[in-house]
Amino acid sequence: MKSRYENAKAAFIDSVDVEDYIELDTSIKVYKQLEHSIDKPLKMILLFGKPGTGKSILLNRIQSKLKHQKEIHYFDIPPVNEKEFFHKLFKILTKQDLPPNTVVNFSALVDFCKNLKDKREIIILLDEAQMYNSEMMEKIRLLSDSRSVKFVISLHKTDNEDLIAKEHFKSRIWEVIELKNVTKEDQFTYIHKKLLKKNLFEVANSIKEKHMKLIHAFTDGNYRECNKLLFTIFEICEYYDENDPSNIDYDNIPQKIIEMAALKLGYIHV
Ligand SMILES: Nc1ncnc2c1ncn2[C@@H]1O[C@H](COP(=O)(O)OP(=O)(O)OP(=O)(O)O)[C@@H](O)[C@H]1O
Ligand SMILES: [Mg+2]
Repeated sequence: MKSRYENAKAAFIDSVDVEDYIELDTSIKVYKQLEHSIDKPLKMILLFGKPGTGKSILLNRIQSKLKHQKEIHYFDIPPVNEKEFFHKLFKILTKQDLPPNTVVNFSALVDFCKNLKDKREIIILLDEAQMYNSEMMEKIRLLSDSRSVKFVISLHKTDNEDLIAKEHFKSRIWEVIELKNVTKEDQFTYIHKKLLKKNLFEVANSIKEKHMKLIHAFTDGNYRECNKLLFTIFEICEYYDENDPSNIDYDNIPQKIIEMAALKLGYIHV
């Protein structure tokens, strides 16, 4: 028989699937903030946060929620080159395809956008924007000046990139939304909701509030780290379930297993 932990593990595979989006106090708050910013007459909005704080899933969520009311487009990773990027943008803006070998005439595109003002409003969600070079960012800014295209620039913030967020965009970005790691309470809800979505009631109940102190301390409330830790916890449970069930308590995950997972992931050392 398939171990219940196999499905529990699957719930924590790191992926950005909007179907798996979970509402938490923090995620509802940032969602509303972003939605509100998009409604304001801003040219650019900066969304930033450390890796694994949920920027990509938030952009996907907002795109899927608003796509029936607004012209909103999500760009996951920057196209390999500038030409391809402007082809993609050209198609969205003009609703026409450009022959593959032609290069978009940028100033004509800017004029085209200026003409769209008050007629259409297009929202472009640019994920992984730290990968766009400054020349492209400058062009993006020029397009946003037309007031018909609004950009949400999502950047992941590491200690070095803090500078990019501050200097390059300082005068240009009109609103900044920062995504942070979550509290212990929200992380508890996150884990439970993830498991309940897969109908794993017993497994969900076996993760108790008392476990959260360790889980939150190891992962610092980061979604990606949380996924990794929970995946590993259930991987260990699955092993015991199949080979040595006397080592698991199905109603109450042994603390030892959480520590073993943390050891495996290098959060703690022997
Ligand atoms: N509200 C949420 N509901 C469900 N899953 C979430 C939520 N927030 C984050 N996650 C999950 O956490 C993981 C990390 O989120 P995501 O990939 O969006 O982070 P990120 O900020 O884009 O990271 P990076 O900077 O590395 O691109 C993903 O597996 C994602 O599905
Ligand atoms: Mg991302």
